[in-house]
Amino acid sequence: MKGQVDVVDVGKKFRLYKERNQSLKSAVMRRRMSVHEDFWAVRDVSFTVPAGSTYGLIGGNGSGKSTLLKCLAKIFTPNEGEIRAEGKVAALLEVGSGFHPELTGRENIFLNGSILGMSRKQILARLDEIIDFSGVEAFIDQPVKNYSSGMYVRLGFAVAINVEPDILVVDEVLAVGDAEFQEKCALKFSDFRREGRTVILVSHAMDAVRTMCDEVAWLRDGHLVTTGRPDSVIDEYLASLHGDA
Ligand SMILES: Nc1ncnc2c1ncn2[C@@H]1O[C@H](COP(=O)(O)OP(=O)(O)O)[C@@H](O)[C@H]1O
Ligand SMILES: [Mg+2]
Repeated sequence: MKGQVDVVDVGKKFRLYKERNQSLKSAVMRRRMSVHEDFWAVRDVSFTVPAGSTYGLIGGNGSGKSTLLKCLAKIFTPNEGEIRAEGKVAALLEVGSGFHPELTGRENIFLNGSILGMSRKQILARLDEIIDFSGVEAFIDQPVKNYSSGMYVRLGFAVAINVEPDILVVDEVLAVGDAEFQEKCALKFSDFRREGRTVILVSHAMDAVRTMCDEVAWLRDGHLVTTGRPDSVIDEYLASLHGDA
């Protein structure tokens, strides 16, 4: 079904090299003997995101949330398992990803929009709305290198939601904006829900996750601890942080 995402036994590993500061000479000399070990940032993770739901991913730093989102956004390919996503995916990952610092806000809307699969005509039709949502009108013809991180995120978010994705993947951007922007995002997410689109989001703002998400998955050390209703999963997660679980 359009908008459904199946994460099936997904594993993503990184190769960690033991020796740092290798000189070129020593690297060449020991060509075939490079010392490394595999580190699984995500492993054996399976869950289904129902079409049209708002789904939260929670867990401590380094638990694999961003890695999993990058697999969802096809920036990474899982080493094990697979992700089946039905429909168009738009992702809003790290601050400024997809933006060129020397280009203006307006130019970056065209750049970013086309990366996300919009035609020039589609972007033009949406331009006013994008600029308006971003709240950076006054700076739209300035190079984005002069923007604050909050302005970056607002512009990136404004483009991503106007791409009309079936599935929107969002990594911790809510934390960057001010209260007004967060409110706007929450409203936009509920519009998305009403339109039957799927949202998958990572956030440290547990109150936002409680109110916005239909279901939550909790990751710890790259493994899935549990999935379920936000209230019960978040309570369990918070209890584990306080050492009483
Ligand atoms: N490109 C990379 N190379 C090596 N290790 C990485 C890379 N990206 C992430 N990691 C490691 O994978 C683990 C999970 O990271 P990440 O997915 O960013 O966690 P989270 O978003 O939950 O904080 C961490 O231990 C991190 O150091
Ligand atoms: Mg992260």
